[in-house]
Amino acid sequence: MQCTLAFDVYGTLFDTQGVVKALAAYVPKAGTRNSQVSAADVARLWRDKQLEYAFRRGLMQRFKDFSVCTRDALRYCNVYYELDLSAAEETELLAAFDLLPLFSDVSNALSILGRKHRVYAFSNGCQSNVESLLENAGVANAFNGVISVTDTKSFKPDPSVYTHFLRQTHSDPEQTWLVSANAFDIIGADSVGMRTAWVKRQHNAVFDPWGVQPEVTVEHLGQLNDLIHC
Ligand code: 2OP
Repeated sequence: MQCTLAFDVYGTLFDTQGVVKALAAYVPKAGTRNSQVSAADVARLWRDKQLEYAFRRGLMQRFKDFSVCTRDALRYCNVYYELDLSAAEETELLAAFDLLPLFSDVSNALSILGRKHRVYAFSNGCQSNVESLLENAGVANAFNGVISVTDTKSFKPDPSVYTHFLRQTHSDPEQTWLVSANAFDIIGADSVGMRTAWVKRQHNAVFDPWGVQPEVTVEHLGQLNDLIHC
């Protein structure tokens, strides 16, 4: 039977560590307080802060576009690590975030899954940012649509965001799978009764110990075809 698949975008389809190359030019110089900090460290803090800011904005009902969370998180890193970014350098790094690389397992898996199921991109990112990411990566046609949180004025994992997805796609939770590498997203989807597939690409990734388990766990998206059913 056909299912509805909701693919998380940042961290699941696209590698948020893909900004490391662009950041390499701006890591703290030798001899400064943060000279041990690598571009990968900065990219990780940038991503963590981006998510934290989205969560906090959701809780406080102070919604702003996800790109504002991304920009403010970069500004936090700039101060925290004394990167001394100019306005032009900030713009360049934000542009790199808009061109994140697709994980290598995505294209093939989408084309196989799309033959059987309805496939959506479902993101905290705004519609236009997600659409242009998918277009740049050449996978826009693999999706039946993009569902963004913007209309809800909240962010995943607010349950209202998942019910918005179900409404927009005319799907029942029992026939809808959230596919995400983000454990908070899996737990959020589980809270409204959706089916869940956790993408654990790194062997040391830890699922939050909240007493909730994903229905399936995969190491790459190519494994989903055999495991997803409704
Ligand atoms: C996304 O919604 C959670 O950042 C992740 O695309």
